[in-house]
Amino acid sequence: MNTTHARQRLVIGNWKMNGSLAANAALLQAVRAGSEAQAGCQVAVCVPFPYLAQAQAQLSGGTVSWGAQDVSVHASGAYTGEVSAGMLNDFACRWVLVGHSERRSYHAETDEQVALKAAVALQAGLTPVVCIGETLQQQEAGETAQVISRQLGPVLALGAQSVSRMVIAYEPVWAIGTGRTATPEQAQAVHALVRQALEALGVGQVQVLYGGSVKASNAASLFAMPDIDGALVGGAALVADEFLGIVAA
Ligand code: 13P
Repeated sequence: MNTTHARQRLVIGNWKMNGSLAANAALLQAVRAGSEAQAGCQVAVCVPFPYLAQAQAQLSGGTVSWGAQDVSVHASGAYTGEVSAGMLNDFACRWVLVGHSERRSYHAETDEQVALKAAVALQAGLTPVVCIGETLQQQEAGETAQVISRQLGPVLALGAQSVSRMVIAYEPVWAIGTGRTATPEQAQAVHALVRQALEALGVGQVQVLYGGSVKASNAASLFAMPDIDGALVGGAALVADEFLGIVAA
């Protein structure tokens, strides 16, 4: 662990649509026990909605916090299938992912909707983890910087006070679930762009996580980069030893 790093380390597991009561019980217990010794790193899990109560029951009083993977922009009403920020608060969530690439691509979430979700989360006292990242096609067309800037635009427009209470996660779509991690240098180059945009707004202390095929074996080299403050972990978050290996890095 690089103890001179300016911002606190943060590792969040995004379970996506995985789990069962039985499997979660073992995973949560192992993550809780294994994270206790890692004082230098904040650890969290974002679980499917039906398992928030289980996460709360098993993680309360420990060092691992929990959250959800999406939130409605609405407070209540006729929005079948949606879950509000107030409901997340009922389960003492600390975090909520917004704008994950799977939400953007399978549910057509726009940059503006993602920013609105971040604002709604902040109003409810939750910390939004705003996910951004380019597709393979965009990367190959040399559009990465442009895409990142477009996705961040409406989020940064919420203003410094709001942005200072968020986390940003850079997840190149081509690296998600593909086993193809961005090299530390590739990731750092984009993180530096994000950092510049944050600094221009006066919120340089915001944590910027990297996501996309992060594993125990590649975490340390990613975390050695000056602008990578931690990781948003998918597949490896479902295996306690892998996830704890990333936390230990
Ligand atoms: P993988 O770690 O499985 O590539 O998923 C990354 C991700 O999408 C986390 O939100």
